[in-house]
Amino acid sequence: VILTQDDLKKIAAYKAVEYVESGMVLGLGTGSTAKHAVDRIGELLHQGKLKDIVGIPTSKKTHEQALSLGIPLSDLNSHPVVDLAIDGADEVDPFLNLVKGRGGSLLREKMVESACKKFIVIVDESKLVKYLGGSGLAMPVEVIQFSWRFTAERLRRLFEDAGCVAKLRTFGEKEEPFVTDNGNFIVDLYFDRSIGDLKAASEAILHLAGVVEHGMFLDMATAVIVAGELGLTMKIK
Ligand code: A5P
Repeated sequence: VILTQDDLKKIAAYKAVEYVESGMVLGLGTGSTAKHAVDRIGELLHQGKLKDIVGIPTSKKTHEQALSLGIPLSDLNSHPVVDLAIDGADEVDPFLNLVKGRGGSLLREKMVESACKKFIVIVDESKLVKYLGGSGLAMPVEVIQFSWRFTAERLRRLFEDAGCVAKLRTFGEKEEPFVTDNGNFIVDLYFDRSIGDLKAASEAILHLAGVVEHGMFLDMATAVIVAGELGLTMKIK
């Protein structure tokens, strides 16, 4: 049997849902991998195999999906402590640090996932990298719309030594700016080389006025479930 990348995502997602117990407050992730986990949670609720679940969605899209599946929903105001969050990632480094937000939901994801007791990340093996930024794909930063070019240039200059290029995220043929669920823009950073000390990089980015949040999730994952051609692996800190 040849497994597609979507099959691998589904296998990782279903494995993570085995850790869900009745009565839990659950952080519901966003993206093509997390979608399978949310579907599975909905299915188990309907089968009566899970009961009394409260879901905290990490995006408007996941909110819609969970609503359509009949998963009871809440938010961090009412449920400030989340038992378990399950979500995908764009990159996972050997220390289980992550890049997230290629789907644009990094801010709500970070709010929910930093409020949870356990955070299980689900990926197919293509997401594993030697260092964050190493996939050549975007490292997203959510910025306010006001003078975004100025903020993008300041971000680029922070990482000039790593050959940083900063681009406004757009969508469609007309290349209109992508607007997040929170009404902000996203500046995607690309690097030629490693940015070095991740904590220092995180602090420098967050220190810039105009920046709302970035997509590096440092020291947050409890476990990463990786689905590959040869089966499942679980990486634990
Ligand atoms: C959403 O903003 C992202 O953080 C996703 O969780 C992440 O991009 C993984 O998405 P896929 O599972 O679709 O690759």
